[in-house]
Amino acid sequence: MSRIFSGVQPTGNLHLGNYLGAIRNFVGLQENYECIYCAVDMHAITVWQDPAALRSNTREVAAAYLAAGVDPKTSIIFAQSNVPAHAELAWIFNCIARLGWLNRMTQFKEKAGKNRENASLGLYAYPSLMAADILAYKATHVPVGEDQKQHLELTRDIAQKFNNDYGVDLFPIVEPLIFGEATRVMSLRDGSKKMSKSDPSDYSRITFTDDRDTIAKKLRKARTDADPLPGSEEGLENRPEAANLVGIYAALAESSKQDVLTEFGGSQFSTFKPILTELAVEKFGPVGEEMKRLMADPGHVDAILKEGAARAHKLTEPVMREVKEVVGF
Ligand code: ADP
Ligand code: NA
Repeated sequence: MSRIFSGVQPTGNLHLGNYLGAIRNFVGLQENYECIYCAVDMHAITVWQDPAALRSNTREVAAAYLAAGVDPKTSIIFAQSNVPAHAELAWIFNCIARLGWLNRMTQFKEKAGKNRENASLGLYAYPSLMAADILAYKATHVPVGEDQKQHLELTRDIAQKFNNDYGVDLFPIVEPLIFGEATRVMSLRDGSKKMSKSDPSDYSRITFTDDRDTIAKKLRKARTDADPLPGSEEGLENRPEAANLVGIYAALAESSKQDVLTEFGGSQFSTFKPILTELAVEKFGPVGEEMKRLMADPGHVDAILKEGAARAHKLTEPVMREVKEVVGF
């Protein structure tokens, strides 16, 4: 059976983009794949995290997986730092990956900002740890949003170079799984930036914990232009904010942008936004409610994380034995 690995960073502010681009899709995959879903807390500390908040956010990621419908009896839910293979294999991959490869990563440039000299070494090496996350399980498929495609490409390069350098066929060349429309949800304040946990503006994102009134207010304030919705997709060109709201509607309704425009073409945003709000409350609201319910019982979530870590660790053992043998450890 093919194996899936995916992760979400426990950095707080879990949002609709994380849900539509990643977590929602984790559920259906359980039917056809062996699934490993991680709260990647070691990635989170590549930028400063308050320790107590990190612990709570790690639980929150697990609770979000569970609330979305991931079944902990079949799938594995765990925290990255509880399985030593991630750090061990990441070091080996640091010695495989080339500086030139990492220099090309656009996310590092975005996250490090202007003061690059002051970014952590961990932020720079992030893709190497991500490769270890996936390959410690010899995962074959990784469901990711558009934003992670470049990092996954690097995972493939690392696997290939490891196999070539050591003359083995140890690591699989992983395939991305990218889902439907709106896998890239943009900021509600700026259609050129993706919706993100780290955006300083709360109005840029709809989070798992937002109630109906908050969702309504954020969508009411969402930036748009003054024109009505077009009747077809070509009309969305050069209208990133309009395209984003239509994309979000299509993803929530599990239809296409064209279907949404066929229904709402000609409508003003003052008409469309309340309808989008209702849909978001109907489809996304219950997931947030369930996540909050789970967060009220941290012992339950922690027990699932603990059992998941033990199962994950077991899967990494034969892989790490093989890797160490090949490397000469
Ligand atoms: P963030 O970028 O918000 O910090 P992560 O890096 O933890 O989130 O990403 C977790 C998952 O959510 C990844 O699979 C990523 O592709 C997906 N994701 C993150 N932001 C978005 C977005 N705006 N639209 C769609 N998917 C997203
Ligand atoms: Na990301």
